Amino acid sequence: MATDTTSPVQTSPSPAEPEPYNPLPPLAKRTQDYGAQIEYWSGIPSTVDGMLGGYPQLSRADLQQSSNFLAKLKPQMAAPADGIRRGVDCGAGIGRITKGLLAKHLDVIDIVEPVKKFTDELLLANPELHSAGRIGDIYNVGLESWHPTEGKYWLIWNQWCLNHLTDKDLISYLARCARALTPTGLIVVKENNTSTPSPPASDTEDTDTDTDITDNTHDIFDPEDCSVTRTDGKFRRIFAKAGLLVVKSELQRGFPERLKLYPVRMYALRPAPAKESK
Ligand SMILES: C[S@@+](CC[C@H](N)C(=O)[O-])C[C@H]1O[C@@H](n2cnc3c(N)ncnc32)[C@H](O)[C@@H]1O
Repeated sequence: MATDTTSPVQTSPSPAEPEPYNPLPPLAKRTQDYGAQIEYWSGIPSTVDGMLGGYPQLSRADLQQSSNFLAKLKPQMAAPADGIRRGVDCGAGIGRITKGLLAKHLDVIDIVEPVKKFTDELLLANPELHSAGRIGDIYNVGLESWHPTEGKYWLIWNQWCLNHLTDKDLISYLARCARALTPTGLIVVKENNTSTPSPPASDTEDTDTDTDITDNTHDIFDPEDCSVTRTDGKFRRIFAKAGLLVVKSELQRGFPERLKLYPVRMYALRPAPAKESK
C-alpha cells in the first residue's frame, strides 16, 4: 500500500531551468511489473502491519467505515436467489478484511491472493471460519489472471490491490467481475487516489470519463512495490470502459491528518444498463 504523500505533486520546472536529474524511467515506462510485485510482497511479513505498510493502527477506522458503506448499500442488494450470500475478497493478503468485515456480512467468502504464504496465514488465523466452511475457494493467482465463474458472487471486494494491475488488465478484470455478479450483486473498490486533479464535486458525478484512457499524467508510480496510484477521474474512466456504473462513492475519513496519506475512496459498482440501439 503506497501511503506516504509528503510530495506527491511534482511541479514542472520553468523553461529556463535545466531538467532536474530523475533516476526513474519516463512515466510511460513506469508501469506495473507483476514479477517484481510478487517478489516484493513475498518479502513482507504475514501481519496486519505488513498488509498496511507499517500503519496497522488504520485497520480499525478502515473496517468501520467499510462496514458503514456496506450498510448503506444493503437496500440496493436484495438477497441472492439461492439465499447464500457468497462474496470474494480480492487481493486478500492475510484476510484482514475477510475477518474484520466480510465475515459479518457474507455466508461464504472466496479468496484471491497471489502470495500463498498470506493465504496459509489466513487459514491458520481463522480456524472457526475455515472449519464452518465459510472460507470457500482459495485462488493463489493475480487478479490479472483470475477468471471468476459467471453469476457467482453477491459481493466482490477489492481493496488496496488494484494499484498492482495495469490499466488494460484492470479494465478486463473489472469486466469479468461484472459478469461474475449475481443479479443484485455489487463490486466494491477501495483504493488510494492521487490528489490531483480535484475530485468531482458530487459523489457520483463522472466528470472526465471522456478523457483519453491512456492519459496517465497524474498517475504516481511507486518504485518500491512497482504499483501505480490513480486519480479519482482515472478510476471512473476505467470503470466506464469496463461497463460499470458508480452507484455510490465515499471518501474514507478518520485517518490521522499528520500521516499525510493519500485520500482513500470507496466505489460501489454494478453493470451499466445496456444502451438501446436506435
Ligand atoms: C496492501 S496489501 C492489501 C491486502 C488486503 N486487501 C488488505 O487491505 O488488508 C496488497 C495485497 O495485494 C496483493 N497483490 C499483489 N499483486 C497482486 C495482483 N496482481 N493481484 C492481486 N493481488 C495482488 C499482495 O500480495 C497483497 O496481499
